[in-house]
Amino acid sequence: MSNKTQREQLGSRLGFLLISAGCAIGLGNVWRFPFITGQYGGAAFVLIYLIFLLILGMPIMVMEFAIGRAGRKNIAGALKALQTKGSQWHLAGYLGILGNVILMMFYTTVAGWMLYYFYNTGIGSLSGLDSEQVASVFASLLANPWTLIGWMVAVIILGFGICSLGLQNGVERITKWMMSSLFVILLILVIKSVTLPGASEGVAFFLKPDFQKLIETGIWETVYAAMGQAFFTLSLGIGSMAIFGSYIGKERSLTGESLNIIGLDTLVAIMSGLIIFPACFAFNVDAGSGPGLIFVTLPNIFNSMVGGRIWGSLFFLFLSFAAMSTVIAVFENIIAFTMDEWGWSRKKSAVLDGIIIFFLSLPCALGFNVLSSIQPLGEGSGILDLEDFIVGNNLLPLGSLIFALFCSYKIGWGWDSFVGEANEGKGLRFPEGIKFYVRYLLPIIILVVFIGGYITKFGG
Ligand code: ALA
Repeated sequence: MSNKTQREQLGSRLGFLLISAGCAIGLGNVWRFPFITGQYGGAAFVLIYLIFLLILGMPIMVMEFAIGRAGRKNIAGALKALQTKGSQWHLAGYLGILGNVILMMFYTTVAGWMLYYFYNTGIGSLSGLDSEQVASVFASLLANPWTLIGWMVAVIILGFGICSLGLQNGVERITKWMMSSLFVILLILVIKSVTLPGASEGVAFFLKPDFQKLIETGIWETVYAAMGQAFFTLSLGIGSMAIFGSYIGKERSLTGESLNIIGLDTLVAIMSGLIIFPACFAFNVDAGSGPGLIFVTLPNIFNSMVGGRIWGSLFFLFLSFAAMSTVIAVFENIIAFTMDEWGWSRKKSAVLDGIIIFFLSLPCALGFNVLSSIQPLGEGSGILDLEDFIVGNNLLPLGSLIFALFCSYKIGWGWDSFVGEANEGKGLRFPEGIKFYVRYLLPIIILVVFIGGYITKFGG
């Protein structure tokens, strides 16, 4: 059925770059990256993270785009179209789609927090609170299931609503607009933050590596965290990127496009750091204070700034755009799957997938209150942590490993087919000399990440 109708295409190269960058740029850059950089001691961590973006992120992103562009389907359909007859690689595609779904099962709730903070900063309900009251706002948000569910539903309706308008009319148009605004807001906030009195110490913490600190924090742990962050920030391993490969033509080669997207993603992560760390140092906030960093500490900063309500609203608007661009991109993956595989129309997919994602998102939201006795990963952990663990520590690395094997061995798609697809069009060619690296070393690095994840988590 799906072959009868022509596959939708993105309208422009810029649209493709911004949508893919939007899929990558998300809570991983603006929330996760600053707080784990703070925890792992700053610039030395950033350096290791950048190395992993290049040695793992770049080749795997090219592979995902190549699989999508050659297979012209969602990740499961594309693997099925490209695999050798009788093989079962497409099962990894189903796992990838499941990864997209589980990612959204907690992402919708956290994206809801961003909308909540944007709204409440905007209407001034956080203004004039002391730091205890600011902390209690976050605590009472988590304690109230209805508020959490309400904002989570807003994210789902917005996201699927935009996707239902069509690939070009909805996803491309809105994401292009959101991403362009996001860069403008970011720039304004960076200028504001680095010119605060005392900001330079924060800039140095973020950008000047201190290897002594690395040794103190623990080299292995830092390396492991940096690798995990590289996978998460680029949404690699579950086919989220592959879908956008399936919507483009062969005009440009895929290595240059991937480097552009990784560059944009890195730019946003670095700029987020340049907003948060100078502000922390200027206002004496502990940069290593963990996941609550932006919710519990930054409203205090905005409260003590002239025009803080405006800066605060702009900041949370920027976070909401970043989160929503990922939500829309991942919803598009889920919609494309139900369209390609089950022959549903885009509208039907948007409605039914939206309902399914709503029910599946409930455990995460309820995990902070009515289901808080469920602590699957040990004391103090919640359902969000379990879902994050399943995706971040399992499906992303394993999926990436499978894509690397699929693209470099004949029993999969094979090296020549992969490189041929990646190099079609104008632009940078994939470095063919790294075949040995992709076949042997890259899988080993991923396996080390994977096993390391389990040891750090459960090894005591
Ligand atoms: N890549 C997405 C993010 O960074 C998942 O949030």
